[in-house]
Amino acid sequence: MQEIEILYDLVKNYLHFSIFFIIFVCFLCESAFYCFVNIYTFMSISERISGLLSQIESMSAANAEELEALRIKYLSKKGEIAALFSEFRNVPNEQKKEVGAQLNALKDKATERMNCLKDQFEQATQLQDKPDLTRTPDPIALGTRHPLSLVREEIIDIFARIGFVVADGPEVEDDQHVFGMLNFAPEHPARDMQDTFFIEKEQGVQKPTDILLRTHTSSVQTRVMTQQKPPIRVLCPGRVYRNEAISARAHCFFHQIEGLYIDKNVSFADLREVLLYLAKELFGQETKIRLRPSYFPFTEPSAEMDISCNICGGTGCSFCKGTGWVEILGCGMVDPNVLESCGIDSKVYSGYAFGLGVERVTNLKYRVKDLRLFSENDVRFLRQFESC
Ligand code: PHE
Repeated sequence: MQEIEILYDLVKNYLHFSIFFIIFVCFLCESAFYCFVNIYTFMSISERISGLLSQIESMSAANAEELEALRIKYLSKKGEIAALFSEFRNVPNEQKKEVGAQLNALKDKATERMNCLKDQFEQATQLQDKPDLTRTPDPIALGTRHPLSLVREEIIDIFARIGFVVADGPEVEDDQHVFGMLNFAPEHPARDMQDTFFIEKEQGVQKPTDILLRTHTSSVQTRVMTQQKPPIRVLCPGRVYRNEAISARAHCFFHQIEGLYIDKNVSFADLREVLLYLAKELFGQETKIRLRPSYFPFTEPSAEMDISCNICGGTGCSFCKGTGWVEILGCGMVDPNVLESCGIDSKVYSGYAFGLGVERVTNLKYRVKDLRLFSENDVRFLRQFESC
């Protein structure tokens, strides 16, 4: 019994110590536990940081989509780095500084790597955009010269060899330059609305200031004659307009080349020689010409020129309607009235003029049956002139 009492006393005396001891042991255990948890957290976050770091250092992307996928994986709000940042609050205080620095370094590294990859892409696309001048070029389908341009250039070239220069003038003209100064009578049918496109005209009244689309490039000649002193040697190519129904043989516009030569002692013989030269250059040296009397208000005498048919050689065929000749241009000696109205002394100077239709010459050279083909822009037609 006594032993029990001794034990009871012992327990009684040491109870508070035991409790304290137990509490102390528990405290130690808890500290050890937390310490373990902390070490574990620290270890795992550090390990993950270094794991991510090596992933980021070696990351690569083949295209912009892959790069974007990497950005989402690592740097977006729900990305792996953001996840580590939210775990950061679990890191024990004494390790926060070190882990924080590691995390920031990781984020910086990821951003830098991402920018680097982005730059590489941009450079690559810029290089793609830059033309490689050493590359064999893709074959570019070349267009062709329009047949009317070919013939116009050929005629200009033929006349350039004998000193004619090209003169230009407006397509929208006044009555004075198209008709008035060219000796057209006030009631001449060309001044009729049925023949000419007027832009500004008082009904029934004819004025030199009426505005119209030029019906011939003789208007350029009147402009040249009023602006230059003889000798004058010009070629006036250009588009002209006439109020005609459109068909295979007529159009409301066509192209002309008119020529004008004014000097002292210019004769009809000079005109004939120049036209023979033109016909031979255009259609071949065996070509013959003939001049038939005609009428134009601005030339006196006037003539139409035919060339020996370039298809049958003058023997007669369906093209020349069996005559052996085809009409090609109008010409004549400049009427003294015209010279005077342009301020040129008709007693000192004389001159010749001629005018041809480019479509007509082109038809003769290339046998284009329908005039409308010239203005329809059909490449199947235009390509046929590739070799010209
Ligand atoms: N102007 C005339 C026409 O358009 C052509 C021509 C010019 C005729 C010069 C004679 C002299 O038809």
